[in-house]
Amino acid sequence: MLKLSIIGAGNVGSHIAVYAAGKDLADIVLLDKDEGKARGTGLDITQAMAMANVDRVVKGTGDYADTAGSDIVVITAGLARKPGMSRDDLLGVNAEIVRSVTREVVKHSPDCILVVVTNPINTMAQLAFEESGFPRERVIGVAGVLDSARFKAFIAAELAIGASRIQTMVLGDHGAQMVPLVDHCTVDGVPIREKIPEERIQAIVDRVQHGGSEIVKLLRTGSAYYAPGTATVELLDAILNDHQHTLPCAVLLKGEYGVDGLFVGVPVLIGRNGMEEVVDVHLTEAETRAFQLSVEHIRERLEQLATMAV
Ligand code: LAC
Repeated sequence: MLKLSIIGAGNVGSHIAVYAAGKDLADIVLLDKDEGKARGTGLDITQAMAMANVDRVVKGTGDYADTAGSDIVVITAGLARKPGMSRDDLLGVNAEIVRSVTREVVKHSPDCILVVVTNPINTMAQLAFEESGFPRERVIGVAGVLDSARFKAFIAAELAIGASRIQTMVLGDHGAQMVPLVDHCTVDGVPIREKIPEERIQAIVDRVQHGGSEIVKLLRTGSAYYAPGTATVELLDAILNDHQHTLPCAVLLKGEYGVDGLFVGVPVLIGRNGMEEVVDVHLTEAETRAFQLSVEHIRERLEQLATMAV
């Protein structure tokens, strides 16, 4: 029986639990430092599944021993943004949380695949990688799947068509410097540049890059969770069911795309081993320049964290 543990029973963690249970992906443990919140949410979701005739339970807990032997552990623990904050503003406080969570997780599930959702994702995935001592194949940050879905949704709205007809990919950092690949974006296989005027495309790209902030501003109390939760479950599904699909994810690059030693969003073949391989996609000159700027931002944020560490 496959076992999935989710650390953090906030909005994102709870929605991952609902979607993953609904898809019958695995037995689920939902852990939070607020044990009552985890247990209450677990009961609530388990009762929802009973109604839907899905034979899965979500066990809520405050004890890491309950996560022992997990196949996958998703880390959502940490603070979310409030209006006016960038993901980078969460750096110091979430770094401490992700480091200590990773230590506890690894103690009980030394063979798991770690999926990191806490922001700023690229840096948090890097910390989880360093703290865990895992091979890079088993540490993956969720970002590009979410950003690509936002890109898709905005193009669908622009053309007033169904989102399922659109193919998108967003690489680089999960932040304002992310890189929506316009030249790789198609509608029924037709490049979007043949369907949407350039200034509208640029407005959509800008909206994708600030897609998270747009929601933070509207909600006023926190950040998005339905799309981040769904994006995470798409990745979990691909791993647990060995889909061998290419998904944009943040992984440690070792020379691919000209980057060494940083977690960057790139197309990744995902299967039962986690990252099966980094997929090489040819980028145009403009995409390459934007990708390099994005990588620079990821590098600077990691250096900033090093100066904050005591
Ligand atoms: C977002 C946050 C979760 O993009 O990073 O909505």
